[in-house]
Formats: sequence, C-alpha cells, structure tokens
Amino acid sequence: MCNRIARAGLLASLALLATAPAQAQVDGPALYQQHCAKCHGDDGRASNMRGRLLFAQDLGDAKWQEHTSDAQILAAIRNGARMMSGYASKLNLEQQQALVQVVRGLRQP
Ligand code: HEC
Repeated sequence: MCNRIARAGLLASLALLATAPAQAQVDGPALYQQHCAKCHGDDGRASNMRGRLLFAQDLGDAKWQEHTSDAQILAAIRNGARMMSGYASKLNLEQQQALVQVVRGLRQP
C-alpha cells in the first residue's frame, strides 16, 4: 500500500517534469469529454444515468477534493477504481497528468 502510494507520488513528479514543456499539446478538457464525461458527467458530478448506476465519484465534491491528493487522482486514472477501468495503457503520462488538472478544475465551492 505504502509502496503503491510512493510509486504514484514518484510517477506524479515524473509526470510533472515530463509535461511542463509539452503541456500545450495536450487538450485535457477534450480528453475528459472523450473518456470520462460518460460516467462522471460534463461537470464531474456524475449525476447522469451511467454515473448513478456505477456510483461514479462526484469529482466536484469539495470534501473529496480536499482529501484526495494529485497522486491519488493520477493513480485512479492509471489503475482505475471499482467499476472504472484504468487508463495506464490507453493514455500516456502527459495525458493522464492533464486529466488530473481537469479533475481539480471540477471542484465546486
Ligand atoms: C465506466 C465509468 C467510468 C469512466 C469512463 C471513468 N470513471 Fe472514474 N470512476 C468511476 C467509478 C465507478 C469510480 C469509483 C467510485 C468509488 O470508488 O466509489 C470512479 C472513481 C474515480 C475517481 C476517484 C478515485 C478515488 O480514489 O477516489 C477519479 C479521480 C476518477 N474516477 C476520474 C476519472 C477520469 C479522469 C476518467 C477519464 C479518464 C474517469 N474517471 C473515467 C467510473 C468511471
């Protein structure tokens, strides 16, 4: 468990290094629309049919945002969570990292 978190943290820092110069080429919001919105909704609240059926995380929830680190979000994107499958082999690290930022932007006050 600790190992997994440490690895996710390492990945997150590597990803930060890797994305800094090339970020403009990755369109995070478009990736979110393409891969995530069907379950988590356009606004991240997962209030659509699929989101409700699968109990997808409400990404706008301020409490959840506060208790979740970037590394945890990245790990969820990479490895999946319950009914959500992982994107480790479908998206590159740069894209995964861009999605972490999109998820952060979904926070509601
Ligand atoms: C098939 C539907 C589905 C898709 C597609 C999907 N998710 Fe999820 N997501 C879920 C479900 C279900 C959970 C689990 C909720 C739980 O653990 O209670 C979840 C959980 C999460 C979590 C929270 C994990 C945690 O540790 O709290 C994050 C972050 C997340 N998804 C982001 C994304 C992103 C970003 C994408 C697009 C790359 C995506 N999801 C695509 C259904 C989906």
